[in-house]
Amino acid sequence: MARVVFNNVRKEFVDEKKGTFTAVENSEFVIEDKEFVVFVGPSGCGKTTSLRMIAGLERQTSGDIIIGDRIVNDLHPKDRDIAMVFQDYALYPHMTIRENLSFGLKNLKKSKAEIEQQVKQASSILGLDELLERKPRELSGGQRQRVAVGRAIVRNPQVFLFDEPLSNLDAKLRIQMRVELAELHKRLGATIVYVTHDQVEAMTLGERIVVMSNGIIQQIAPPTELYNKPNNMFVAGFIGSPAMNFMDATIENGKAFVEGAQIALPQAVADGLKSYEGKKIIVGIRPEHLYGEEFAHTVSKEHTMDVTVQVIENLGADNLLYFKVGSRMVTARVHPETIARLGERKRLVIDISKLHFFDPETTQRIALS
Ligand SMILES: Nc1ncnc2c1ncn2[C@@H]1O[C@H](COP(=O)(O)OP(=O)(O)O)[C@@H](O)[C@H]1O
Ligand SMILES: [Mg+2]
Repeated sequence: MARVVFNNVRKEFVDEKKGTFTAVENSEFVIEDKEFVVFVGPSGCGKTTSLRMIAGLERQTSGDIIIGDRIVNDLHPKDRDIAMVFQDYALYPHMTIRENLSFGLKNLKKSKAEIEQQVKQASSILGLDELLERKPRELSGGQRQRVAVGRAIVRNPQVFLFDEPLSNLDAKLRIQMRVELAELHKRLGATIVYVTHDQVEAMTLGERIVVMSNGIIQQIAPPTELYNKPNNMFVAGFIGSPAMNFMDATIENGKAFVEGAQIALPQAVADGLKSYEGKKIIVGIRPEHLYGEEFAHTVSKEHTMDVTVQVIENLGADNLLYFKVGSRMVTARVHPETIARLGERKRLVIDISKLHFFDPETTQRIALS
């Protein structure tokens, strides 16, 4: 297995109509040996392009790519010792599962005994033993996806690359495959680079996550750090569901003034925000850190805001209350028995230890050390 490094990698596409388009800019990261790293971001942000550059299917415009201890800039995909799994499993329909699994190895001119042994091992890891003589059309979506993964495993590559491998599966199967992939990673002890637009998938699978937007890496961090300390408003809004709320506020005498609330800030926070005194600021709070007054058992009830509830969504395990703060729509995820009526005022408790602060000009997180 091996590490994967990008040194200042850039990718431009030249389009006849649109001219030069930068799909990936100044990309820098080190994926450690045996690490499971997930690239996440909205469609078109450069995830697949990044993955294809690791694979060698796309040549970077500038910068260096290192796999293991080799600079692979000029290395052909087949010499990079990687295996890629795509969204559409791309199995050969006329071949059996066994033949599908063996095919790549035959091309690599492996011996018959070796191929048999590798196929046996992969099929046992993935629970495909009973399916080996079937054709792909006789398999369910989840089973086909497993075969696609199996085809990567038999090659015993240094690095596995996955490009949205679960997007064609229904929700339940996706969760099951997610668990299987996480187990597979432990079992193989493999370096895995995994691309998805789904932040839940990213949060559950990634040991570290690379968040991208518009071709630019926004933050690289473990899931909890992304959730607790997002670098900027993009990451804050992208990670977590429902998304983090943003409210316009002003800082005056150590208090944050938001419509419907004056939030007295703890001394350390007020000190950290001194340079914003009298200025505008963005206050972020996640929906799960607002509580109906009567269910705020775990937090101090000292800090509250009064809001007019506009929409109530009952999700069973919890309720979502929607209301406006200034011109922005804000969501609270509250206990399902919280009493709230449409159009009526409701007092919410704010867990002020969970507030985030952003600079409205730069959209960057304000560090409060
Ligand atoms: N071969 C190509 N030629 C021109 N533009 C491309 C090509 N491949 C990708 N792009 C553009 O680069 C951007 C990033 O694409 P991609 O990496 O596929 O995004 P993602 O996988 O994050 O959805 C998109 O705007 C896409 O249209
Ligand atoms: Mg893509």
